[in-house]
Amino acid sequence: MKKTPTIENIIEGKTNILVYKSKQSKKGPGSKDDLPFYNPSMELNRDLSILVCQWFVNNSKKNLNLLDGLAASGIRGLRFANEVVGNFDITVNDWNPDAYELVKKNIKNLKLKNIVAINRNLNTILLENKFDYIDIDPFGSPVYFIDLAMRSICNDGIIACTATDTATLCGTYPKVCLRRYGAIPYHSIAMKETGLRILLGFICREAGKYDKAIKPLVSYCTDHYFRAYIQVINGTSRANDSMKNYSIIKSNNLFSLKNENVDIGPLWTGKLQNKKILAEFRTMLFETHLNTKNELWKLLDLLEEEADAPIFFYTTDKLASLLKKSPPKMETIFKKLQEKGYNVYRTHFSSTGFKTNAPKSEIEKVYK
Ligand SMILES: C[S@@+](CC[C@H](N)C(=O)[O-])C[C@H]1O[C@@H](n2cnc3c(N)ncnc32)[C@H](O)[C@@H]1O
Repeated sequence: MKKTPTIENIIEGKTNILVYKSKQSKKGPGSKDDLPFYNPSMELNRDLSILVCQWFVNNSKKNLNLLDGLAASGIRGLRFANEVVGNFDITVNDWNPDAYELVKKNIKNLKLKNIVAINRNLNTILLENKFDYIDIDPFGSPVYFIDLAMRSICNDGIIACTATDTATLCGTYPKVCLRRYGAIPYHSIAMKETGLRILLGFICREAGKYDKAIKPLVSYCTDHYFRAYIQVINGTSRANDSMKNYSIIKSNNLFSLKNENVDIGPLWTGKLQNKKILAEFRTMLFETHLNTKNELWKLLDLLEEEADAPIFFYTTDKLASLLKKSPPKMETIFKKLQEKGYNVYRTHFSSTGFKTNAPKSEIEKVYK
């Protein structure tokens, strides 16, 4: 006999909803289960999507059609409807009937008007409808939805997607990565960046099939997931330009402990962030009520700093073991390289990481 699930009340942002009580720990991205649990550890992920949607609504002249495609508890879509101000409608979908029933109940309790709950396969919805914003937040990889999301997304629309198959994208399972993303990953110091770029490369390739270009607005990784917000623009010449950022790179472009020069990718070699928009998000953050405000501020600050930095990064500790020296302080590295006229940037990929346009020979000198 099916056990009746326990329901509890939670507040996230400004939204108070009923969710299924989770027996899981707060850490990590969550996993497949019979019930669509609410996962508190993804609050920062959802808080950023509130900022992105508010920015999108503020900068749009039309009524936007948004989709929370894999909604589980529905917390993301319910929060959009309750917290984002302006002209938009939101569809909240999950194929799980328990999720659907609870989302309907929450819509009623919150007396929300611009929101509708549905209970279907996301791919069917994408095939039949057009959206300005599509949120794809799966357990694991988003690849199974990107093709149809590209067909469904309106010109200048945003696809937001999470990938929790970080081990695959970072090179622990290269065969899986090749099958799933059509790309060779590389387990190295910069594996999180290669992983994020493989995800974006895949999305760029899927867009190219439909003569569409991609423009990443924000993309980042944490220990448990990758997340990207990508604007999609129609047009063959724009698509051709976007495909110029889709290529295979050689592993000796990275500081590796391995003495080899193998192919990595294809991956996205273009920008991961839009610096101007990140600055706008930070301004908006001042006047938005979000529980992860401080954490989000730090993340956006780092993303803005590294927005114009070269691709790939070094870490002080891994460089030290490679060069068999003790690691200098980050401040020393920054100071010495800046004194020589090079640019140096912190990176969100690693607390001991830095990006620079200095050649390897100059970086090695700092370790002497
Ligand atoms: C990681 S959860 C979503 C988490 C949610 N976005 C949040 O912020 O809490 C993934 C959800 O996708 C649903 N799902 C998986 N495949 C689906 C499909 N093809 N169509 C619709 N829902 C699907 C699952 O039932 C599950 O509830």
